Amino acid sequence: MTDHRKILVTSALPYANGSIHLGHLVEYIQTDIWVRQQKMMGHECHYMCADDTHGTPIMISARNQGITPEALIEAVHAEHYRDFQDFLVEFDNYYTTNSPENKLLAEMVYLAVKEKGHIAQRDIEQMYCPEDAMFLPDRMIRGKCPKCGAEDQYGDACEICSATYDPTDLVEAHCSLCGTAPETRTSTHYFFKLGDFQEQLESWIDGDHVQPEVRSKIKEWFEGGLKDWDISRDAPYFGFKIPGTDDKYFYVWLDAPIGYMASTMNWCERTGRNFDDFWRSDDCEIVHFIGKDILYFHTLFWPAMLMGADLQTPDKVYVHGFLTVNGKKMSKSRGTFISAREYLEHLNPEALRYYYACKLNARVEDIDLNLFDFVTRVNSDVANQFINLGSRTMSFLSKRLDGRLGPMDEAGIELMEALEDGAREIAGFYDQREYSKAMRRLIELAHAANQFVANQAPWAAIKEDPEKARAICTAGVNAFGKLAVLLTPVMPQLAAKVQALLNREVTSFEAVFERLEEGTVKPFEPIFEKLEEEAVMGMVEASTKRSEETPEEEAYEVDDLTETVSYDDFVKVDLRVAEILEAEGVPKANKLLKIKVSLGPLGTRTIFAGIKKSHDPAKLIGRKIVVAANLAPRQMKFGLSEGMLLAAGPGGEDVFLLGVEEKAKPGMRVN
Ligand code: MSP
Ligand code: ZN
Repeated sequence: MTDHRKILVTSALPYANGSIHLGHLVEYIQTDIWVRQQKMMGHECHYMCADDTHGTPIMISARNQGITPEALIEAVHAEHYRDFQDFLVEFDNYYTTNSPENKLLAEMVYLAVKEKGHIAQRDIEQMYCPEDAMFLPDRMIRGKCPKCGAEDQYGDACEICSATYDPTDLVEAHCSLCGTAPETRTSTHYFFKLGDFQEQLESWIDGDHVQPEVRSKIKEWFEGGLKDWDISRDAPYFGFKIPGTDDKYFYVWLDAPIGYMASTMNWCERTGRNFDDFWRSDDCEIVHFIGKDILYFHTLFWPAMLMGADLQTPDKVYVHGFLTVNGKKMSKSRGTFISAREYLEHLNPEALRYYYACKLNARVEDIDLNLFDFVTRVNSDVANQFINLGSRTMSFLSKRLDGRLGPMDEAGIELMEALEDGAREIAGFYDQREYSKAMRRLIELAHAANQFVANQAPWAAIKEDPEKARAICTAGVNAFGKLAVLLTPVMPQLAAKVQALLNREVTSFEAVFERLEEGTVKPFEPIFEKLEEEAVMGMVEASTKRSEETPEEEAYEVDDLTETVSYDDFVKVDLRVAEILEAEGVPKANKLLKIKVSLGPLGTRTIFAGIKKSHDPAKLIGRKIVVAANLAPRQMKFGLSEGMLLAAGPGGEDVFLLGVEEKAKPGMRVN
């Protein structure tokens, strides 16, 4: 197999002031799949994480609950850990940044960079609340946007018009805790001179450490020049005191990434390993998985800090995009701001892992959880393709042929070879984080195996030659076992259940090359329950209800409701009544219909529409619908599309065409 690798993997440390939600899980599931695959390939791979526990919001949140910050972060740590376990995210260590190891390492890094002259000290002016006796972070100052006048905006940016500004520019600024108007006060701050590392960072960026689109983003930042980074905060603050000061604390983002090392150190202590083998060693690859919102911290500040302290810089920073639900930002009022726990109360965690795998690739793109597509996808791939293959061949084998496997024939061996070739390809996709390609290939292989069973028809063969039927079923069962090995990083529990039916336990990818031609298998049992749309609806309902009970937290979520179009823009879209003259399926496209419509005096248009699954073309002819008639024509693979028809629905079989009264004449304007 490939060279042995030693890899230390991290996911970003979740903040200890909130619950894990489906957005977070994109990252932890993406990372966990990668780690499980590396382990199966026989590499030494360790997955480190922790709660990110410091900072003002956590301090305030504890105060509001009338508990100490320590008590708060302890409770949250337990909750987070349980959520991750239930989603089968398997850390080698899940620690906390509020730990002695982290304090030690943060001080060590700080003193090392200070020693080398990379820390500057100067006075700055900041907003201060005299009532609360504290400096206010930008997010705790609210007021009217200086640009558009929108009420109740944060001190750094307006969520209505997207303007960014200084908190001192805010109109009628007030403290978000007590409402008092803040005053400006001077205080001494410590800065990390990021610019000192510009050259080193530039050569790091040019190495193969980040995705290409991330590299170009960072290069833009270089062009703007690297500014000093303020790493200190005034008391009161929940965090580590800066050595050599009385009342200054490390800003949370200084000690947060150091938490990756602290978790490693704690794990080393627990398991008798040596910290330097990981963070002061060339042969250990350090791999960070993060979301696109925390790029700056991980590709500039963090490597620079490591460089300054003579520690190992990251080998890879893998950045993923954000989760949307049903095409939109997660929203409490729509019931799509779903916590890990809410999901678990209604649905199977491995189903989400599978769906995310189908959506994830190596790029920074956002991924969408379409709740209807989710149900369809999981049921058709996992239940109807994968499980079905096992159920039909294993049931037949145990009911009719004593559950005993036998030698495969030539056709069976050919199928094995195809699966084994596919397996090598899939292993490559996993390593490259091209999970969507891996899943597509896997389901293709499952389809091919089902096809094989259907063509070979063991139920017919058994009448003449029971051993032929046994050979066919043996190939089917082997295919099922191989596919289960390939699915293990994504659905580890389901895969283990499959292997148990085959009387084996699989920990290594090598198992995909085993061929079982002796012994018996257990009788098939239902091991996967199809998803029910009702369960999804139930989850969304429960989530909406819960958010109505706790409305406050939503304060910083502004919906797309603010994105309006002007009347003038609306009338630019020429909506017209159209009559369908012709409709036919586009061969080789499973969703597209080619439709010819009449717009009366305006002539005819040809439109390609993705409604094949919901509409029988024959029944469309003569129907009157609404189309956008002046859409710029679009060249598609199958021809030119000259408009768009108006429809609603979640997709698939449920797309409803917008109709008009029979009396309406083709060509009439609608808007
Ligand atoms: N505490 C910091 C990270 C410190 S790392 C040294 C933080 N925490 S977080 O809880 O806000 O986010 C944790 C991770 O989850 C981040 O990588 C973030 O990008 C990711 N996600 C949070 N919401 C997300 C979505 N809606 N979609 C995808 N990933 C998201 O940032
Ligand atoms: Zn105040």
